Amino acid sequence: MTLALEVRNLVKKFGGLTATNDLSFDLAKGESLGLIGPNGAGKTTVFSQIMGELRQTSGTIKLYGEEISKLTTAERIAKGVSRTYQVPRPFAELSVRENIRVGLMPDSLRAMIFGAPDRSREAELAQSIGFAPKDLDKTASELAMGDLRKLEFARTLATGAKLLLLDEVFAGLTSGEIGMIAELIQDLRQRGFTFLMVSHDLPAMEPLVDRAIAIERGTMLANGSFADVLGDKSVRASYLGES
Ligand SMILES: Nc1ncnc2c1ncn2[C@@H]1O[C@H](COP(=O)(O)OP(=O)(O)OP(=O)(O)O)[C@@H](O)[C@H]1O
Ligand SMILES: [Mg+2]
Repeated sequence: MTLALEVRNLVKKFGGLTATNDLSFDLAKGESLGLIGPNGAGKTTVFSQIMGELRQTSGTIKLYGEEISKLTTAERIAKGVSRTYQVPRPFAELSVRENIRVGLMPDSLRAMIFGAPDRSREAELAQSIGFAPKDLDKTASELAMGDLRKLEFARTLATGAKLLLLDEVFAGLTSGEIGMIAELIQDLRQRGFTFLMVSHDLPAMEPLVDRAIAIERGTMLANGSFADVLGDKSVRASYLGES
């Protein structure tokens, strides 16, 4: 069985700080894995290394069986992995439609200048994520947080990647918006997408994951079912502040 993702003995040091400490985990194709841990535990740093935005100090990362550690971020996206950002990063002056278009194009800048826009695909993606047709021509800078998160998700989907790394997709959303994004994730799981997701909203995340891992100071604390991980003594002490 080819695994979607294999992280082995990953280490990331920032000077004297070890942000990822000998971390190893796998993700099967079609699986959904929750990554939890307190603020500063190193969750986002793991995402950045998988995407090649940060180079690991040591260790290996395989995507669909292929070592990707030396590839650029664009090459990794082309091989089928994409992420959302904890703080949404839209092109503020572009419209919803144009922001999605950037994700749809392999070489986004050139495509923005020379590419023929696929307006129906943009609209379809925007609609699938809950944008009304009237929202498509709003600029990103006009959007509220809920819509910015939806746009972040739409841009990630637009890359065509089947392994999606979701960093705090529920932060700052209303319960209605959380429900909508959760439904979309369930729908994508049915369609065979693979997820690695980070969220501080544990009740929202629980029904969306098959399994969870908990980290603290970059180190694995527990790996198992969501209930087992949350019930783990060291996780309760670290994450939930229990002693
Ligand atoms: N570029 C960087 N340079 C130096 N230190 C960094 C850098 N990025 C992250 N860190 C540090 O690495 C540690 C892990 O940070 P990271 O953002 O991965 O945590 P996190 O689990 O995503 O936290 P949060 O839940 O607050 O989003 C923190 O101590 C952080 O200050
Ligand atoms: Mg983070």
